[in-house]
Amino acid sequence: MKIAVTSSLPGDALSDLARRHTVLVREETDLLDQAALIRFIADADGVITLLADPVSEQVMAACPKLKVVANYAVGFNNIDLEAARRRGIWVTNTPDVLTDATADLTWALLLAMTRRLGEGEELLRSGGYAGWRPEMLLGLGLQGQTLGIVGFGRIGRAVAQRATGFGMQVLLTDAQPALAEDARYRPLDELLAASKVLSLHCPATPDTHHLLDERRLALLPRGAYLINTARGQLVDEAALVRALERGHLAGAGLDVYENEPEVHQGLLGRSDVVLLPHIGSATVAARTAMADLAVANLAAVLEGRQPPTPVVSP
Ligand code: DGY
Repeated sequence: MKIAVTSSLPGDALSDLARRHTVLVREETDLLDQAALIRFIADADGVITLLADPVSEQVMAACPKLKVVANYAVGFNNIDLEAARRRGIWVTNTPDVLTDATADLTWALLLAMTRRLGEGEELLRSGGYAGWRPEMLLGLGLQGQTLGIVGFGRIGRAVAQRATGFGMQVLLTDAQPALAEDARYRPLDELLAASKVLSLHCPATPDTHHLLDERRLALLPRGAYLINTARGQLVDEAALVRALERGHLAGAGLDVYENEPEVHQGLLGRSDVVLLPHIGSATVAARTAMADLAVANLAAVLEGRQPPTPVVSP
């Protein structure tokens, strides 16, 4: 079978796959638009895609042999799932293996933001550190503060687990009705009003687009912090910039952006934000395990077995 992979991947999974199938790996690192994606995968039986590859209906229509799209990500908002279902194409993702890495990075952002690590580093590197001062770079102590978690799936839960060690109170909200039984559950607007730090962990869908808009950002208490390691589309970035500018929010820690890889100009110059280039899952272990799982999913479909982590099972 012919397999197209839109990027090189860490580990040995692709070499193993190449012993059984014809594997074409894209070496260029620029982003693919629909036309370029079609050119690259047109006659493939299966494809391993990255989270920014636009796997639209048009792309699927132009690839008549395509049987499986194995996304190298837990998120799959880059893929038209309905079109895949209609066309009998499997879609798979890479859950679980990146949960701890992403939860750790969420906490790295939370600490960097509330303890002003970026500002401290900048001060030191620019030669501005003239000695210890009692009031220099004071930040937020976490003990007893409330951490609001929006989206209580695998990553949201792993972030909540880590909060115990820092003495934070956790509140959570989620679309799953069963979670309403949890004493920590709050409807979204109530959760916002009670959260000193808010962390987003829900998928990007039409329903969650701009979940944090002007109105909801204003519900956060004055001096609150926002962390987003999920998807940029969850936040109205222009409204976030305005909330920071008027001092309503004390800071933001972002790993993802509304128009990634572009970052809103209003964020770039601010010292009260910590900005990372989508590295939530970027550990050797997680990214290698993601490659193993994406390959296992793809190979299973093409070799007639049930894939381990399907999203669309035609
Ligand atoms: C994902 O998997 O969806 C992350 O955004 C990248 O690992």
